[in-house]
Order: sequence, then C-alpha cells, then structure tokens
Amino acid sequence: MVKMNDNYQKLPGSYLFSTVAKKVNAYQKAHPEAEIIRLGIGDVTEPLVPAIIEALHGAVDEMASRETFRGYAPDLGYDFLRNAIAENDFQARGCDIQADEIFVSDGAKCDCGNLQEIFAVDNKIAVCDPVYPVYVDSNVMAGRTGMYNKERENFDGVIYMPCREENNFLPELPSETPDLIYLCFPNNPTGEAIRKSELQEWVDYANKTGAVIFYDAAYEAYIAEEGVPHSIYECEGAKTCAIETRSFSKNAGFTGLRLGYTVIPKELVRGGVSLHSLWARRHGTKFNGAPYIVQRAGEAVYSEAGKAQLKEQIAYYMRNARTIKAGLTEAGFTAYGGVNSPYIWLKTADNMTSWEFFDYLLNKLHIVGTPGSGFGAQGEGFFRLTAFGSYENTLEAVKRLKSM
Ligand code: MLT
Repeated sequence: MVKMNDNYQKLPGSYLFSTVAKKVNAYQKAHPEAEIIRLGIGDVTEPLVPAIIEALHGAVDEMASRETFRGYAPDLGYDFLRNAIAENDFQARGCDIQADEIFVSDGAKCDCGNLQEIFAVDNKIAVCDPVYPVYVDSNVMAGRTGMYNKERENFDGVIYMPCREENNFLPELPSETPDLIYLCFPNNPTGEAIRKSELQEWVDYANKTGAVIFYDAAYEAYIAEEGVPHSIYECEGAKTCAIETRSFSKNAGFTGLRLGYTVIPKELVRGGVSLHSLWARRHGTKFNGAPYIVQRAGEAVYSEAGKAQLKEQIAYYMRNARTIKAGLTEAGFTAYGGVNSPYIWLKTADNMTSWEFFDYLLNKLHIVGTPGSGFGAQGEGFFRLTAFGSYENTLEAVKRLKSM
C-alpha cells in the first residue's frame, strides 16, 4: 500500500493564516452585521498603479496576435525582467549581482518553501523565533526536523534564535553551528530592521562556519532609515554565503498577480557544488516560468512612472503604519516595528495570550490581527497588525483600539 510522507503528520493544525481566515469567516457568518476590519494577513488593498496596469494591458494585447504571442516563458525568467532587477535592485545600490544570477518565480513564498530542497535532509536549520512559518513548516515537510515538542511549542532538531524585546528583536549568533540560517529583514512579524553592521556579522559568521544564509528581503521597499541594508549583498562577502529572495507583492501589490525572484550568486559553492547550478536544475525541472504578462508588469515596476507611483503607494501604507503605532502608544500599548516595515508588533493587553487577544479583538472590536504565538513560542503575548488596510479602516481600527 502507498505510504504517505509522515513528516506532514508532525505539523500541528493548519497553516497560520488559514486558521485565522477560518476563524474570521466563521465569526462573520454568525455575525453578518459585524463590520470586520482585516489587519491580519499582509495582503495589500490598494489597486495596481497605472504604469503596471498599462504594461499588463499591453502584454495582454500582444497575446492576441500570432506575431507577438508568447508561449512558455524561459524557465529562469525573461531577460528584460532579469536585467531590470539586476540594474535597479542591486547594481544601483553598489551590489555586484548579474542578471543571470536572478531566478524569476511566481512569488517569494514558493521560493522560501522550495529552496530547502537543494540542501541535504540532515542539515540543521536555524530560524528566528518568532518567524514566518513557511521556513519551518517546509523543513518539517522535508523531514529536516524532529517531532513537534508540545511543551516548548516548537520542533526538535531546529535551532531557534529568540528575538525578544531585550535583544531589540534581533537574533544572536547561535551557540550550536547551523548549516542553513533563515533571516528576514525588515522582519516579519516583528517589523524591526537590522543595521548593515549587524548583518555583516552574520555574513562573516556564515563564511567562517560554511553555513548558508537564506535572506528574505520581501519588505525592503519599506526601509526608511539610513544604515538599514536593502540587500544582504551590500555586506562584504555575502556572495559566497547568501541567497536572497524578493517579492513583488508588498512593494508593488502583486499578491494576486504573483511574482518574485531569488538571487543565487555564482560564487556560492559548498562541497564543490554550485548552488546556482542546483537551483537552475530544480527550477527548470519543476517550474515553467512566471507568466509573460506578469513579467511585463514586473518590468513596469522599474520604469520611471512605476517607481514614482509605487513610492506614493508605499507612503500611503506607511502613513497607516505610523497611525497604528501612534494610536496604540496613545492607548497605552507597547508597540514595535512600523518604521522600516508595514508590520506593527504589539504587546497584548492585560497579559492576555496572543490567541485570547485575537478572540477579544475579533469578538469585541471586530478587528482581525495575527496572534504572535502563531509565529513561534517567543511570539506569545504579542500580536501583529498590518498597515496594508485602507487609511479609513486604519483610522477606524485605531479608534476602536483606543476605546478598549
Ligand atoms: C504575512 O502576512 O505574513 C504574509 O503576507 C504572508 C505571505 O506573504 O505569505
């Protein structure tokens, strides 16, 4: 008889955001009159900017005629997009990343989940706690962890790096040496950023120990402060130890369109094996390229008009972030993040657990957020709100929170 992948059985419950969505849908069904404000999952609400819409229309029209129709996209991405990414996201910031080191995909979440496939199952991973659940869950599915430990509320065989108030929500170099280190900055869920000198320590550490850093920079467009790196390749030596993933979801509103990319420098070699070659082999085998029309839309992100329009869009969300943080502080909450990121990480009221606070906000104030403990044991007692709602809803949510 067929045997299933038992590693899936190690995962408790459903995926965090599915659990939240189920609870919210059930509440809405039971209370159809409730005007629920959704500040849970980091999903954007502003429409695509005109430069992107124009590019989409143009690409759709191309699909209507034999001369310009496109079938399968090149599996690693169209050159027009890879060149635009290399020039704008890296070379313009002094990072020596070439177009052929960029792998275009249908979103950063897939890359975050899939990249572990090119590493051996007996590699040890290190993750921040709290952490974006995809890094851990995908490694559990692959069998790279032990069982779920109910007492500690995390998995055996994983190095968890606590990110708490006392260390400014930044991980410390672990005492046990990991093979694969997951870092995400600006951070999801805490919304806190890392300085370049601090990130350099991780790069030096990985080069010294032979570890590989998987760097998720999905929120880099929200960086407002000087000294905060937009890419890990701003650090010296990162090309020999780091993979970086980026998303078009948060900087350009592609959560529904789907587009992302991963950078693997050619110098990144372990045990004589090029990680670039392995990922190219994997991508070519399992992926048929992001849609042409979406890649054209991605190219428009880097046009002069696109850049100007997206700057405004990000400013819109960051006004929400400031509004939430200021409102929470006025209401007596302790809140972090929201300066270089669209996430605000607050301490729950009255020592409620994260899920108690979730239920309280949903039932009493009709506000949805994400319970901190859903991101890991160290997230207990915290709660995440996103700045991705409309300004009006953000104001209303703050008003309700102040009434608590
Ligand atoms: C989040 O809310 O953490 C993100 O939107 C989830 C994701 O990007 O997959």
